[in-house]
Amino acid sequence: MTIQFLGKTLKNPMVLASGILGNNCDILERVHENGCGLVTMKSIGPEPRDGHKNPSVIDLGHGMINAVGLPSPGVLNMENEWDDLKNRNFPLIASVYGGSVREYQIVAEFVSLKKPDFIEINISCPNSEKHGMIFGVNPQSSHDVVSAVKKVIKVPLIVKLTPQALDIGEVASACEDAGANAICAINTVGPGMVIDIESKMPVLAFKRGGLSGPMIKPVAIRCVFDVYKAVNIPIIGLGGITTGKDAIEIIMAGASLVGIGSAIRYRGIDVFKKVALEMETWLKDHDLCMEEIIGAAHREG
Ligand SMILES: Cc1cc2nc3c(=O)[nH]c(=O)nc-3n(C[C@H](O)[C@H](O)[C@H](O)COP(=O)(O)O)c2cc1C
Repeated sequence: MTIQFLGKTLKNPMVLASGILGNNCDILERVHENGCGLVTMKSIGPEPRDGHKNPSVIDLGHGMINAVGLPSPGVLNMENEWDDLKNRNFPLIASVYGGSVREYQIVAEFVSLKKPDFIEINISCPNSEKHGMIFGVNPQSSHDVVSAVKKVIKVPLIVKLTPQALDIGEVASACEDAGANAICAINTVGPGMVIDIESKMPVLAFKRGGLSGPMIKPVAIRCVFDVYKAVNIPIIGLGGITTGKDAIEIIMAGASLVGIGSAIRYRGIDVFKKVALEMETWLKDHDLCMEEIIGAAHREG
């Protein structure tokens, strides 16, 4: 099931979500070998950052809550990773974040020199210029960061959106206007909180965290549906996708590619192969091909 995406041929529509398996080339290569068409790196920031203390990830059974806090070695301290990734045999998205428009620009420009196939900007993290606000909740701040990054990179730009936006379609449209080549939706939902009733304390060290996995799938489906209505650029749909039928559902909402993160925990690293096969089986049973079902849920009933 080969797919064309922004000028590259992918072996299938499966994408590894950012942040789930880090930036080690051997691990990312294993993901590719296990059926993933396009691999996303963990978000890279401007400065070295430890992230939040443990416990930072909790499995709730129907999904996870995490507050890893964007740990990053910092963009200037990744020469070993880039050296290894130079000779990779798989398509790669490098994910970047910053605390200001200028920081996004600096990190993206540097990362662009390392020649990933695509750059994704994670605009779902706090913006220190605006006291903890998230860039991606606001169409204007999203537009500002996308147009700034677009000026300094030489590879196609994907923008990763947050479901916290009041109108995610409006944000996606602002990103498209600013030059984004694709949208990735969604990042984690929340923040949420889990309290241990025996100790009477929040369980996460950071207290609050983002939700992922099966419990957020309906939010992801609605967001992708809204984004598809608002833009003409391709969408990577993710959020709780665990089975082939989940993948078909998010494609019908409007996704061209399907991201997987938390489901690695539930179905193993070969979840990509499994989901791709389940999708193919479903399509064959229904005598359909992938192109026919992208955005199928939008037809007038
Ligand atoms: C432990 C963990 C770390 C994550 N780190 C990042 C990150 O660095 N950058 C990013 O854009 N998204 C990050 N995410 C969000 C995922 O890429 C994905 O958008 C989200 O988990 C929803 O997909 P899922 O339900 O398939 O996991 C992280 C998620 C988890 C669970």
